[in-house]
Amino acid sequence: MSNLLFERSKTLLSFDDYQQADGFKVLQCVLKMKPLDIIDEIKASNLVGRGGAGFPVGVKMSSVQRMESDIKYLVCNADEGEPGTFKDRELLSRNPLKVIESMIISAYAIGASKGFLYVRGEYSYLKTPILEGLEALRVEGYLGKNICGSGFDFDIEYRSGIGAYICGEETALIESIEGRSGDPRNKPPYTAEVGLWGKPTLVNNVETLANILPVMDLGAEVYKTYGTEKSAGTKLFSVSGSVLNKGVYEVPFGTTLRQLIEEECGGGEHIKFVQVGGSSGIILPESMIDIELSYEAFAKLDAGLGSGAIYVADESVCVLDYLKVTAAFFKHESCGKCTPCREGNRHIERILKNLSDGVGSKEDIETLLRTSHVMKEASFCGLGQTATSGLVSALKYFEDEILIHLEEKCPTGVCSFDRGGDQS
Ligand SMILES: Cc1cc2nc3c(=O)[nH]c(=O)nc-3n(C[C@H](O)[C@H](O)[C@H](O)COP(=O)(O)O)c2cc1C
Ligand code: SF4
Repeated sequence: MSNLLFERSKTLLSFDDYQQADGFKVLQCVLKMKPLDIIDEIKASNLVGRGGAGFPVGVKMSSVQRMESDIKYLVCNADEGEPGTFKDRELLSRNPLKVIESMIISAYAIGASKGFLYVRGEYSYLKTPILEGLEALRVEGYLGKNICGSGFDFDIEYRSGIGAYICGEETALIESIEGRSGDPRNKPPYTAEVGLWGKPTLVNNVETLANILPVMDLGAEVYKTYGTEKSAGTKLFSVSGSVLNKGVYEVPFGTTLRQLIEEECGGGEHIKFVQVGGSSGIILPESMIDIELSYEAFAKLDAGLGSGAIYVADESVCVLDYLKVTAAFFKHESCGKCTPCREGNRHIERILKNLSDGVGSKEDIETLLRTSHVMKEASFCGLGQTATSGLVSALKYFEDEILIHLEEKCPTGVCSFDRGGDQS
């Protein structure tokens, strides 16, 4: 069995369906445990966050748990704005109560009495089923005062984003819940200490929270038999582009990118490159897709797995054109608060356009790398720090193809078409 989280064939929307499928059994057991023992189990499982940064979940929970405060919060980050990412949507569409049960367990472990489920605005169709689910849980005694007679009080509020990618960044998300525009905050202090309304707050991704359930159900030792030594468990990947079967796939860490594409997605034809981790992930040529999907394998390339989005590009995709589209996305989504990101993204988009229009120069490559370096080192938040990961890796593996645009027409014809015809 490699599915801990996600079964394509199963949709459990109603409370009754979920309960019949053993829903809330784990919660009932966990409510008899001491909060610190739960956190120790999660630490022992080596579970790390699936929202992008890969931070150890148990460590973050401990930081919130040990804070003295009249109120603590738990936030489930379902903003899912990274291009090509749609795994959290699948979890929330097919089995929302699983995520909610995990939220209740996590809240009990850290001593939070109020939770927020912050959902991407475009997923508005999820609102009614989730609100109905929350109401059913209140009626059945799984939310509200004295949950299952344990003396623990906790409730969840649904909040909706309105389409800003930056609001997925945890401090911007907190600003948004508080009713302000989503501008990231300084870190430190971290949200575990100073979060929502200045109170200790645990922010976790949907998929991260969904993993709490199998960890507590199977126990850390069994959970760790999935995946690799350093990347425990399974991972959801949302695969799009030139593969036969696009969709969300759950595989154990350690599966290779090629296995995912060929064995799970039915294969891809004439693959040219694959971007792993969404628009802020690295671009790998086809020759490198035997790489293992694990945090340690990607760390060797100074990269991560990001949100788990995988875009497979075939030979018809022009790398330069693809980079232009990505640069336009980041320019649009930069909140403008800091100069390296605000100006860097504009600068990069302009240079890429010049190259694609055939009016750039070879020196532009150096300028792109220098600007990317400054953005990575000096940007205020993760958006600016990772906006050029794809660009830098593409310059490493596809520099020749990019420079061809200065001498002759685009090898795929895409940019020539953009310029209004054949350049020869
Ligand atoms: C620009 C930007 C967008 C982000 N978007 C999301 C998102 O949509 N969902 C998410 O879970 N994390 C997102 N993150 C990461 C969060 O800041 C945070 O690290 C995460 O929610 C923590 O949860 P985890 O520890 O479970 O991964 C984003 C980060 C950045 C910099
Ligand atoms: S890095 Fe970009 S998104 Fe983040 S604060 Fe700076 S301008 Fe805003």
